[in-house]
Amino acid sequence: MSGELRLTVLGAGYLGITHAACMASLGFDVLGVDTDAARVDQLNAGHLPIYEPDLEELLRAGLSAGRVRFTTSYPEAAAFGDVHFICTGTPQQLGSNRADLSQVHACVAALAPLLDRPCLVVGKSTVPVGTARRLAAELSQACPDAELAWNPEFLREGNAVADTVAPDRIVVGVTSGRAEQILRQLYARPLAGGAALIVTSLETAELAKAAANAFLATKISFINAMAEICESAGGDVRDLAQILGADPRIGPAFLRAGLGYGGGCLPKDIRAFVARAEELGAGASLAFLREVDAINLRRRARTADLVHELTGGNLTGVPVCVLGAAFKPGSDDVRDSPALDVAQILTGMGARVTVYDPAALDNARRARPELDYAPTLAGAARGAHVVLLLTEWPEFTTLTPDRLGGIVARRNIIDARNALDPVPWREAGWEYRALGVAEDAADPARLDASPW
Ligand code: UDX
Repeated sequence: MSGELRLTVLGAGYLGITHAACMASLGFDVLGVDTDAARVDQLNAGHLPIYEPDLEELLRAGLSAGRVRFTTSYPEAAAFGDVHFICTGTPQQLGSNRADLSQVHACVAALAPLLDRPCLVVGKSTVPVGTARRLAAELSQACPDAELAWNPEFLREGNAVADTVAPDRIVVGVTSGRAEQILRQLYARPLAGGAALIVTSLETAELAKAAANAFLATKISFINAMAEICESAGGDVRDLAQILGADPRIGPAFLRAGLGYGGGCLPKDIRAFVARAEELGAGASLAFLREVDAINLRRRARTADLVHELTGGNLTGVPVCVLGAAFKPGSDDVRDSPALDVAQILTGMGARVTVYDPAALDNARRARPELDYAPTLAGAARGAHVVLLLTEWPEFTTLTPDRLGGIVARRNIIDARNALDPVPWREAGWEYRALGVAEDAADPARLDASPW
């Protein structure tokens, strides 16, 4: 293996499409592989099946430069690639907390028997620790000249392109110096741009992703636990987060209290990590992550309870406007969406819920066809007795109390992402409630009453 390396990317989901387009933009010839022929045609025509800023432009640039194309053919991939990236999904198994590895196994089973020359297979999918070692054995049995490395991906949706071409760190789990050299060659540009390279074992590389996601989820649930305490004790979690974040040992990132985390990664990765630890006989070490998950889910129930409180205890037939369906702004992803869960809980309590989202309506309709949706914010808010801000899109955070006040029937708002300034809303006659802020703690009148 020498000269210009040719790459395949196996799996054209979020990770695969991003990796294929980004590696093409770094100057490599890339062949993307997916078993879904319609998706392959769509990608070859330059259309993205997902919403991700800058990615479609990058894909089109790669297609027109002849640097990237997609196929359903594994024989073509085996003949083409010097390096094969496994980018298939690892969703939560139905009826269990474990990761479903069927796509990873199917992709290795399809590729390995076709390999007949030296090559490197690089895992990027998020897998339970121990998977890579087993795949390496399977691979070398099928083709003694094929080697496995693990190179986890830390990209955030909405930031996927920048996170891939200019990451903070590149983690490579390898079993030989040769594999390390190939990965250094592939990532020469990000490394020259300042990305840290950490060369480690297969197991540590697998753990790196699980541990990073566990830490981020813990940080969010920590501040949400403080939000619960603030609600009980009369505090304000936004001030508390600012105070904690000003300590450089803690840092301000991922301390935004509110409705908690969702999406296709954090929730299922945390659960799969716990399940794997239990299999390893180390369940006690990660038992705290069960509480992290529980705190996160409690925020959804608490948000629904707030609506209950605001409407005087009976939600039957009450028109409720839900702003947000995506699990976070800048994304059309509704996997494990806190916003849709709240909409569902409220519907179950008898409310007449209408959901609006600037990007995720189509996906939301597919995932939860039983909910009602409106194509515009005004359509969802018209006649509402309560408005819930559940995903902090700019379209919602820049809303003015008077504009929204002219559409709704009653001025009740729940800011479940702590994204609005309560003062103008209260001044405009709104009953404003937020998660983690005791009702009286956020009341500016409380300050005015001070004898000083
Ligand atoms: C995450 C990790 O950040 C990324 O490194 C990993 O590769 C995949 O999982 P992503 O799922 O795209 O990325 O979303 P992220 O930006 O991390 O947000 C996750 C969730 O946490 C969102 O629902 C967001 O609303 C929530 N969140 C984030 C908070 O509730 N509070 C915060 O302070 C930060």
